[in-house]
Amino acid sequence: MSGDDERFIMVNGIRRELTGAQAEGSLLEYLREELDLTGAKNGCGVGACGACTVLVDGQARRACITKMSSALGKEIVTIEGLEGPGGELHPLQQAFIESGAIQCGFCTPGMIMSSLALLGKEKRPSRERIRQAISGNLCRCTGYQQIVDAVELAARRMYPEA
Ligand code: FES
Ligand code: FES
Repeated sequence: MSGDDERFIMVNGIRRELTGAQAEGSLLEYLREELDLTGAKNGCGVGACGACTVLVDGQARRACITKMSSALGKEIVTIEGLEGPGGELHPLQQAFIESGAIQCGFCTPGMIMSSLALLGKEKRPSRERIRQAISGNLCRCTGYQQIVDAVELAARRMYPEA
């Protein structure tokens, strides 16, 4: 198999073959500019704000400092990938709305992806664990309290038996 045959990534369940140029640069550039998936935000571009957070093989990663070369062959999930088959919101999205965890909304996609990575590992994280999980995500609006409330609410709904 040549190197070219291995140049693909999975994005929200769809296999994307990559040209040589697409396989260079950052994952955030590829998602936003090539796929028009603009949910992941370009806040700082240097790994400091978390607004660009996506899942890479289930782990929260900052797409602005993730090179495409390191994402080849991996499963990427963006906020757009959370929509249900009928267009319904993910429980985290619903909980963020209900808890007043969204003001300007700029940080929200990254916050939700970091929270989703946490809930993929822990069904009933403590408030402290939630705070740790979102510690790399900056929010200038909410003071974080409502965001932690939202993640707790989503956890209860996603894992009612936990
Ligand atoms: S845009 Fe990636 S961490 Fe700020
Ligand atoms: S809601 Fe505005 S930055 Fe978080």
